[in-house]
Order: sequence, then C-alpha cells, then structure tokens
Amino acid sequence: MASAARSKIASSVFRKGLFKDKVAIVTGGGTGIGKGITKELLYLGCNVMIASRNPEKLEKGEAEIKAWLKKGNHHAQLETLPCNIRKEEEVQNLMINTVEKFGQLDFVVNNGGGQFISRAEDIKLKGWNAVVETNLTGTFLMCQGAYRHWMRDNGGSIVNILVDMWKGFPIMSHTGAARAGVDNLTKSLALEWVHSGVRINSVAPGSSIYSDTAAANYGNINIFDTIKETVPYHRLGTVEEISSIVCFLLSPGATFITGETIRADAGQSHYACPTLKIPAHDKIPPYSWQSEVNNDES
Ligand code: ADE
Repeated sequence: MASAARSKIASSVFRKGLFKDKVAIVTGGGTGIGKGITKELLYLGCNVMIASRNPEKLEKGEAEIKAWLKKGNHHAQLETLPCNIRKEEEVQNLMINTVEKFGQLDFVVNNGGGQFISRAEDIKLKGWNAVVETNLTGTFLMCQGAYRHWMRDNGGSIVNILVDMWKGFPIMSHTGAARAGVDNLTKSLALEWVHSGVRINSVAPGSSIYSDTAAANYGNINIFDTIKETVPYHRLGTVEEISSIVCFLLSPGATFITGETIRADAGQSHYACPTLKIPAHDKIPPYSWQSEVNNDES
C-alpha cells in the first residue's frame, strides 16, 4: 500500500464503490448511529435520502455530512426530506420523492426512533401510543411503503435498528415492547416478501454505543461509565461498529441472511452470570474510521 493511502482515514472496511449507484433511505440519518450509517453508505457510493421528523436536525446533519463529502471528495449524492414515519401519507411521500429523485430504491435503514424514561405505572396512554407508533408502527409503515412503492417489483434490502431489549427494558417498557415487536416483524416480513427478492434483517446495538447525540440525550448524567461495567469488553462501542454490520447486511455478502437480528453489544446481553467476573482487559480494541487506514487503494 502506498504511503499516501496509508495517511488517509478510511470510512469503511468494505471496498469503495461497493454500493455505487445504489439508493438508500435512512431514517434519523442526520444524527448519532444514523449519521454513521449514512456516511458509510455514501463512502461506498450509495446515494442516500435521509428522513427525519425534525427539520432542524435534518438541516444540521445535512450540512455536516455534505461538508464531509466535499472534504473526502466522495461523489455519492445526499438528499433530505422531513417525514414523520407515524403518518402513512408522509411515508408515501418519502417513497415517491426518493424514487423520483434517484430513480430507484435499493435499501431502507429504519433507524429513526424515540422514547422517554418513565416507570410503567406512570406512563400515560398518549406517551405509550407515541412511542409504539414511532418505533413499531413507523417501522412497519416504512417497510410496507418501500415494498408497495418499489421493492415488490424490484427487490431490495431492509435493515431495522433495534435496541438491547432481550431481558426486558425497565423504565422504558414502551420502547422495549415496540422493539421486540420489530424483531418479530422482521421475521414475518422476511418470509412474506422473500419471493420478491426482498431481504429484511435487524441489528440490535447494545446500550454501550457512544455517540455525541446519545451523550447529549443523557444530559449531565454520565451513564456511559456505569454502562461500561456491564460490557464484557470493558469499553464502549463505536458508531462504526454498528454501521459496518448494517452495510454488511445490505451487501451481497449477506445474500443468504434474511429474517435475522444481529446483536451488536460485545456480549453485553449475555452477561448476567454472577459466577464469572470478567477481568479488566483491552484485548478487543474499538474499530473506528479514525483508527483504520484507507482500504480503497493499494
Ligand atoms: N425520529 C424520531 N421520531 C420520528 C418520527 N416520528 N418520524 C421520523 N423520524 C423520527
């Protein structure tokens, strides 16, 4: 590898151009994990439509990602559209606009979601419904919209982003229930739509994935130090450690996988074993674009 290439920062473990001329919608693609997924898709040549309910977040994310595209001299296109995924007509509008703009729709990444902390006894019906409608119904509408508008006739690949809800989700029972619903929905849709050439899978990141957006959500509470103790790697996860799995699932390398949910949590969801105390170690260091050399030149 030439030394000039070594000094560049890679933006994927996958080869540049892998998704050349493909088209993706990423909900919540302007912040946190969604922004990482958007950037990796763009780096791989995929044109991306990011959709979010919040126009300010969309605008801010768009400006930042476009500056990054320019700096890296990447040629894929980024578009944005405000869309409330709870509203069927707005989801339809998103599908129509994306296909009009880019001519096709190969991938959907259902990353946008939302919840609030509350004990179950205090959740009001309005709040419960809002969380279920965003995380479960919104994901369903996005999948159904993509299928009806494009993928039924042309195939495609969908990835849903869940959370680590495998042992229940106390103080956020609404989102735990909704995300468990998406896990099941993933399996049903995979079987109903396989004959159309549609694959649908999910990724369940652990609570240890650090992003500026996640940190800001927790305000002054440094929850990440506490979370770190529950991770068998004794460290937090990176956004890139999620986006690379999403890109793998969308890629031809995952052709034989559908209806599957991949846990991306460094074993955290399996770690409830009082007889084993995992010693402090740093044997599985973080993967992030900052620590990798470019892999598109040799
Ligand atoms: N992100 C959080 N809530 C959303 C919604 N209702 N629509 C789109 N993106 C969202």
